[in-house]
Amino acid sequence: MTKIKTIGMLTSGGDAPGMNAALRAVTRAAIYNGFKVKGIYRGYRGLVENEIADFQAQDVSNIIHRGGTILRTARCNEFKTVEGRKKAFENMKKHDIDALVVIGGDGTLTGAREFAREFDVPIVGIPGTIDNDLYGTDHTIGYDTALNTIMWCVDRIRDTANSHERLFFIEVMGRNAGFLALNGAIAGGAEAAIIPEISIEQDQLAELIEHGFRTTKKSSIVLVAESPITGGAMGLAERVRNEYPQYDVRVTILGHLQRGGSPTAQDRILASRMGAAAIDALVEGQRNVMIGDDDEKMVYVPFSKAIKNEKTIDPQLLQTVHELSI
Ligand code: F6P
Repeated sequence: MTKIKTIGMLTSGGDAPGMNAALRAVTRAAIYNGFKVKGIYRGYRGLVENEIADFQAQDVSNIIHRGGTILRTARCNEFKTVEGRKKAFENMKKHDIDALVVIGGDGTLTGAREFAREFDVPIVGIPGTIDNDLYGTDHTIGYDTALNTIMWCVDRIRDTANSHERLFFIEVMGRNAGFLALNGAIAGGAEAAIIPEISIEQDQLAELIEHGFRTTKKSSIVLVAESPITGGAMGLAERVRNEYPQYDVRVTILGHLQRGGSPTAQDRILASRMGAAAIDALVEGQRNVMIGDDDEKMVYVPFSKAIKNEKTIDPQLLQTVHELSI
């Protein structure tokens, strides 16, 4: 095994608040431990297209509080091909990069696993996605900030929902996972959450409306996870207009505003700890693992586990939403 001297880092896939804090931590922990650091721009695309620069400790000054990613990010189709990955490996060698730290979600780790397997490159992943959908880590970087943004929005929508006595469907992101919708509903005191983890046979809308929904309140807020399974907020509103015309229904799709903003303290701390843990992992000779947080402790999760397994959502939390909305 070649001794690692230079570490390349990149952010890939959808950006998430706290990615900059992670880049800062990776850079500084690496330099502290005697490594050289290179920043790779635009995720895997920068590796394929050779957009790589030296990074010093001061290059990551004043970024801990900034949303987005200073390295920028992309979803790169070329990296999904063997030829693309070959180019990426050649560029790594050109820059004397011996190991990678990649920050992103499921797609980022899937690409990393493939690349590591083909070219025998040591890679450590850091879970960075607002979706919180990676197995093996209690939290992903960006999730807490997005959740706080959702809560902030729900608070504001509640004012107008109350004034007009309306039923609001608020659609939140999450790809195929309902973590943002479910915990956003609890934090925002919503009346219900509709999430894709609940079986497709179950008509969540009908259950909601026919079993005591709005018996005591004039306005209601329902958080809906984006997904073809839930039908999305638009789909549900359409159904209400047709099947329950007594409700005055409105829709808000929060969209990409959930991905921006200054990271919360929790995300900054998580990103800082995970960035430092990624360098510890490389020092210890770990490779092809994702850093996870398990009950506050930093752990190493093999890529195959993090990608293949589905993170389960606690169904008891839906009951909590239900109980607290009477
Ligand atoms: O994975 C993060 C995420 O924000 C998902 O919640 C969402 O489905 C997707 O990315 C949106 O991607 P894009 O910014 O490419 O439209």
